Amino acid sequence: MSITYQKSNNLFKLTTANTLYAFELSHGTLVHRYYGQKRGATVPTSADVKGRVVSFSPYRDEDDKAFSFDTLPLEYSYFGSGDFRPTALRIKNANGDSVTSFSYVSHKIRRGRVDLSPIPAGRADDKTQTLDITLRDHVSGCELHLYYTVFYDCDVISRYAAITNHSGGDVVVEKWMSLCLDLPGEDYELISLGGRHCRERTVYQRTPIGRGNLSVASRRGATSHQMNPFMAVCAKDANEDRGEVYGFNLVWSGSFLGECESDQMHTTRIQLGLGSENFTYRLRDGETVYAPEAIMTYSPAGLGNMSRHFHDFINRHIVPEKAHEQRPVVLNSWEAFYFNINEDIMVDFAAAAADCGMDMVIMDDGWFGARINDKAGLGDWFVNRNRFPDGLRPFVERVKATGVKFGIWVEPEMVNPDSNLYRAHPDWVISCRGRERSLSRSQMVLDMSNPAVIDYLKASFTETFADVPIDYFKWDMNRQISEPGSPTLAPEDQGSLEYRYMLGVYSLFDWFTKQYPDAMIENCSGGGGRYDPAMMYFTSQIWTSDNTSARDRVLIQYSSQLAYPASVMSCHVSNPKGDLRELDLKYKVAVGGILGYEFNVLNTPDEIKDEIRRQVARYRTFDRLIQFGTHYRLSSPYETGISAYYYRLDGEILLSAILTDGKAVIGKKKALKKLAVRTADKDAVYRDAISGVTYTGAQLRAGIEIGEFAPDATGYDAKLWHFQKI
Ligand code: GLA
Repeated sequence: MSITYQKSNNLFKLTTANTLYAFELSHGTLVHRYYGQKRGATVPTSADVKGRVVSFSPYRDEDDKAFSFDTLPLEYSYFGSGDFRPTALRIKNANGDSVTSFSYVSHKIRRGRVDLSPIPAGRADDKTQTLDITLRDHVSGCELHLYYTVFYDCDVISRYAAITNHSGGDVVVEKWMSLCLDLPGEDYELISLGGRHCRERTVYQRTPIGRGNLSVASRRGATSHQMNPFMAVCAKDANEDRGEVYGFNLVWSGSFLGECESDQMHTTRIQLGLGSENFTYRLRDGETVYAPEAIMTYSPAGLGNMSRHFHDFINRHIVPEKAHEQRPVVLNSWEAFYFNINEDIMVDFAAAAADCGMDMVIMDDGWFGARINDKAGLGDWFVNRNRFPDGLRPFVERVKATGVKFGIWVEPEMVNPDSNLYRAHPDWVISCRGRERSLSRSQMVLDMSNPAVIDYLKASFTETFADVPIDYFKWDMNRQISEPGSPTLAPEDQGSLEYRYMLGVYSLFDWFTKQYPDAMIENCSGGGGRYDPAMMYFTSQIWTSDNTSARDRVLIQYSSQLAYPASVMSCHVSNPKGDLRELDLKYKVAVGGILGYEFNVLNTPDEIKDEIRRQVARYRTFDRLIQFGTHYRLSSPYETGISAYYYRLDGEILLSAILTDGKAVIGKKKALKKLAVRTADKDAVYRDAISGVTYTGAQLRAGIEIGEFAPDATGYDAKLWHFQKI
């Protein structure tokens, strides 16, 4: 049993392969006791965690003043009930105050998990167990369920919640966090991944947590390029291989809030969830609402171990079944032609993809409605007959006759004002009555909380893709939400627009996966603007960034892997400007993830095409390691200017070292001469399939010389080794 409850001491214990999480039930309240290593764990006693009596901290019992919500480490916390730290839940009651205090009623330990659909959440396996705790606020009668799901093998525990209103009237959920964790100590640092469009997750911040609220958030209606929902809270001395690290993420694709704050008791509160700024929810009597799943992991051995837990979790419990098939090497039309596509160009392009040994051609934007630039046509999902005179099906048959599979671009959530859809339904966009509707990339966001919009999209795609053999969809989302209002929601429900928007998006994703079960979906939001576990639930991989410069990608990919596996990281070799050396650099960076190409191979010199053929063939010798292998980082481009990492699977190791111009180095540059593959089998002999040189496992473990780099004019060079046991 990975979840137990000991009645004698009211202790709940949740165990994973290597971690233990414990809390107790005391006075109807869930008091946190321990989260850390399982082996040799000493769970603090009740008395240990109970605070001393602190002036100004409210209590309920004159004879037990130390039992204060303000000083105890709590599993969950409620606004207004005497906990002055950031609280996890605030509900406005029918009488207008926002005070609640939920007490334990009962609990159940069940197999599997609680279904949150359409909100995606980690898929259960045979070992998955869930603790479901029911609590009640005795004044309002509202019921709260706190769920803890244990994903044993990955060392991940998840937290999510449900509220049912039994108050007899409406209440309003005003702030809601899925996870609240009070850790002992206050010497932690927060690692977060900020960025912007084309520089996703490259603002690798490590900030001391102290008094005062330190938060990460998106208020954009999408998880965003600007801030990822991933957080690592680590000991000051933690590094890649050593030190305690707690990792967190949220299985959600909209606005979110993560917050950290240390307090007078020398504990640190960490929370992650929907927050309050972009979320309120009017809950009618008898209605239930769910908070998305937050995931957490603990590593006693540094950031690398934390990342591997999350990689493992995403690969095993998040990505769809399809993601476990070998991924196609695609040739995408976007950077080759932008909007200037038509049937003949695309058929020639497909033939070139086949000629270069690739598996699939992707027809990106520009195939539908009046979409000849980004000013018009979004929302009109009907093939452009000027460009594809016979329609989609005969065209796709011509593509397939060249020997490659076929993928197509869609952006279902959006509309251009210059479109038939907008002209017919100006009330189908997110907007607030009487206010201007801001544009971004000349487009507006459809109101996905409106079922009529979802029905329209389903009907359009059903008609347009009927009998068209599509193998892949690229699902894009190229702007974020401003003026968050819905023309169809009641005034009291407007605060839940963004939440309901996400439910609508997830239900459409779900429909796509059922309607086109043989097709894989790649997610994109102007690159990696929705690079989150919830998107990964539906999509096998994500277009990591619109920035395809190998030089910028080194950082983007390195930091993305802190939280996400290589298997979801879509990486394309873009226009190498006719230069073989440039092509080599782009390739060596792109094979940090799932390889594709994105440039006009039609007018490419033969020597480049020959090299692409060799690259694809070589990639096929090690693609399993990238998709299924275990990832180890050896050197950070932020510390040494060299990004070095390897993938390991069975008897093979794929090792990369990429020299950068060093501009991203933070602090004092550390020298790096050797790369130590510490997980090599010490008694084995390995042959590098690229150079032909052999090494003993002991040599690999001790470290191989990187050797001289030969930087190009911009200071970059890359090396690749593919060790195979012989
Ligand atoms: C976004 C995507 C690109 C491309 C364009 C098409 O910017 O990130 O890859 O699909 O849209 O308009």
